Amino acid sequence: MSLAGLWSALRKGVFPHQISWFLDNPLRRLILSPQRLADRLPIASSSHILEVGPGSGFFSVERARRVPQGRLALFDLQPEMIAKALAKFAPAAPAQVAGFTGDASRHCHPQMRAST
Ligand SMILES: C[S@@+](CC[C@H](N)C(=O)[O-])C[C@H]1O[C@@H](n2cnc3c(N)ncnc32)[C@H](O)[C@@H]1O
Repeated sequence: MSLAGLWSALRKGVFPHQISWFLDNPLRRLILSPQRLADRLPIASSSHILEVGPGSGFFSVERARRVPQGRLALFDLQPEMIAKALAKFAPAAPAQVAGFTGDASRHCHPQMRAST
């Protein structure tokens, strides 16, 4: 693990991909499992979902499972997180799932930006 990379992510206020194992902690399921969260969302089998900041994909596999005729786009600042999220789909990500890297704050509507 690169300590410089870890420090750089922390300074930017981003959850570092180097410690993504923390996000994958199975104990999280006791608080809110991917299934229970998906149950709360208005997802149809043909829905198109944009998951911003999926990290290592803790919620992504369940979301993809629910849109067999739809799309799931994973969009994260860190390419390493996208790689980890896609790796959760074994043996390969299904056709309706795609990963993208970018900064969501550059794409949101000006009124959605947090005021400082
Ligand atoms: C704390 S992690 C949460 C991951 C996942 N949602 C979960 O609950 O397991 C936040 C993720 O959002 C991503 N992120 C932070 N700022 C972002 C931005 N401006 N655009 C895209 N992704 C961003 C980070 O790279 C990180 O992977």
